[in-house]
Amino acid sequence: MKALVLSGGSGTRLRPFTYSMAKQLVPVANKPVLLNCLENLRDIGVTETGLIVGGYASEIEDVVGDGSALGLEVTYIHQSAPLGLAHCVALAADFLGDDDFVMYLGDNILADGIEAAATAFREGGADARILVTKVPDPSHYGVAEIDADSRVTALVEKPQQPQSDLAVIGVYFFTNAIHEAVRSLRPSARGELEITDAIQLLVTGGRTVLAHEYHGYWKDTGKIDDLLECNRELLGRLPDDGPPSDGVDSASTVHGQVVIGPGARVIGSVLTGPVLIGAGSVVENSAIGPDVSIGPDCVLKDAGLEHSILLEGVTIDGVRELHGCVIGRWAQVRAPDNDDVRQRLIIGDHTQAEVSA
Ligand code: TTP
Repeated sequence: MKALVLSGGSGTRLRPFTYSMAKQLVPVANKPVLLNCLENLRDIGVTETGLIVGGYASEIEDVVGDGSALGLEVTYIHQSAPLGLAHCVALAADFLGDDDFVMYLGDNILADGIEAAATAFREGGADARILVTKVPDPSHYGVAEIDADSRVTALVEKPQQPQSDLAVIGVYFFTNAIHEAVRSLRPSARGELEITDAIQLLVTGGRTVLAHEYHGYWKDTGKIDDLLECNRELLGRLPDDGPPSDGVDSASTVHGQVVIGPGARVIGSVLTGPVLIGAGSVVENSAIGPDVSIGPDCVLKDAGLEHSILLEGVTIDGVRELHGCVIGRWAQVRAPDNDDVRQRLIIGDHTQAEVSA
């Protein structure tokens, strides 16, 4: 079996980050989302992996390389514009040949791996096996309607009156039957070749499409709040290695699971885990956590921060009560000079700020 990982797209819902980086490289628990996906593929024994890349091809290549560090053989496939998930399958047709493959959306996290679904698919009997999970609000998702044998009878995009609570999530196992369906697609109303349309064609053509319920933790990290929620979940799964032995001075206190990267220092601060502090970062006279990931080379002084993600090189100086923040690379958040009570914002396009009135 091969893999096809989708790491292009426009990522409009994750602006402003996607103005300067691929959304699949945004870190969750200090690791790019995409690496979680590639590790799951390695864990099911896949090696040959096609990686669809768009505008941030070189940044993704810098992180993933040829895939050998992960035990994969990665072939890059360039998509000139985000023309849809099924367009990615069409682009990869030569790479995939007639092999079975798993298609994996590179911004999705399936924290408990995809072993069970891969095993079931390998046992045969299905032209496609798609992962689904129960959601409380199916009208926000693509939904699979199934019969008593888990055969998909219909796929409905964002149904107003859902007949099922099974949302289609970002992992699909296909045989080569999908290629013919993709070839006969026409662009949808939003101008994309939709994978749901291709799967629906399999269903109406009498092919066996099975829904595989995923019971683990799944999150599409395409939106800020989902990114934060996923960060919280993955931090909560950090192995309990006891209190950090290095980098924390005697004036600091540590509660719960806290991991301090190489060269990072914590001075006179209170850390309430789970907290990750990236290599080379300095935290001084601050209260951090719970549920905080701090990237490398950040400086936090007189700061208070919970339930947040800081990317590389962030400075926070003299600002407390921060929560639910995602702060991009080399951004600075400071208290005004000289006790000025006014608030000054220099923020880029599509940035959000919630400040005291
Ligand atoms: P989406 O999140 O559905 O699309 P998007 O990246 O364009 O995001 P937004 O809606 O916020 O603008 O894409 C799911 C995954 O598939 C994601 O990893 C991006 C990838 N993708 C491609 O590689 N090529 C494509 O043509 C599309 C539509 C998505």
